Amino acid sequence: MTVSIRPFHPGFAGEVSGCDMTQPLSREDVAAIDAGMDTYAVLVFHDQRITDEQQLAFTRNFGTLEVSGIGNITKPHEYRLKPEMIDVSNLDREHKPLPLDDRRRMFNLGNRLWHSDSSFRAIPAKYSLLSGRIVVDKGGNTEFADMRAAYDALDTETKAEIEDLICEHSLIYSRGLLGFTELSEEERAKFKPVRQRLVRRHPVTGRKSLFLASHAGGIIGWHMPEARAFLRDLIDHATQPQFVHVHKWRQFDFVMWDNRQTMHRVRRFDETLVRDVRRTTVAGDAPTAEQVQAA
Ligand code: OGA
Ligand code: MN
Repeated sequence: MTVSIRPFHPGFAGEVSGCDMTQPLSREDVAAIDAGMDTYAVLVFHDQRITDEQQLAFTRNFGTLEVSGIGNITKPHEYRLKPEMIDVSNLDREHKPLPLDDRRRMFNLGNRLWHSDSSFRAIPAKYSLLSGRIVVDKGGNTEFADMRAAYDALDTETKAEIEDLICEHSLIYSRGLLGFTELSEEERAKFKPVRQRLVRRHPVTGRKSLFLASHAGGIIGWHMPEARAFLRDLIDHATQPQFVHVHKWRQFDFVMWDNRQTMHRVRRFDETLVRDVRRTTVAGDAPTAEQVQAA
């Protein structure tokens, strides 16, 4: 088995062939996929009829797994999947669509805003891997923005201004944008803001990218309204059509992206229908900025 990659856009998002995730991968294939991620930042695989175990085994080729718990308000006893599988479906434990007014569903609607996975963790995620087990025919596309190209397209003054800026990221901010503000004390403590650099450099390619997400709700040393207006401008800039790849799901598609170099969002769909998508996440290896120590 030898993987090959055909780019969708010059340098951004590739379609992989010659990979069967039901089988162990050779070292060469793992290296080719890793190199493809460095170059294209998003990789799309088709016809991967995999189990959760096979998805976990494939993911472990690329690093340590992140586990559920900190990224949502779903309680462990409500989990449909094991904790290493991040449930991004609209389903409850009985595999039925959550009622439209369910608090967990409301919270998960945050995925409709542009974001980078786990930017609200002190060590943000490296890769996310999403398996489309049951997809919908209409809507529910996942869109990806190339944050390297978006950075490159900034003018010199803006690049200089943002070079050393540090943002504060929290689920409280992204959910606040949707008017979801009712959080318990415990939830607020769990979602305490973390610091992230606004400009990151890729450790292998050396390319710089904008590290943004709807979770970003402040810039250290800036007045909040000014920070938020600027972050909004930057997200608008970065998500212009020339930087975006749209993935329209077919059943058993598998999409893998580099959260250090991209943002993504899911588009609206009929949530009375089943959309069973399951994510595994490769943890990052270091914080992007120094965190403030809790007193
Ligand atoms: C995710 C996510 C988008 C989707 O898995 O991190 O944001 O299409 N999913 O469900
Ligand atoms: Mn996501």
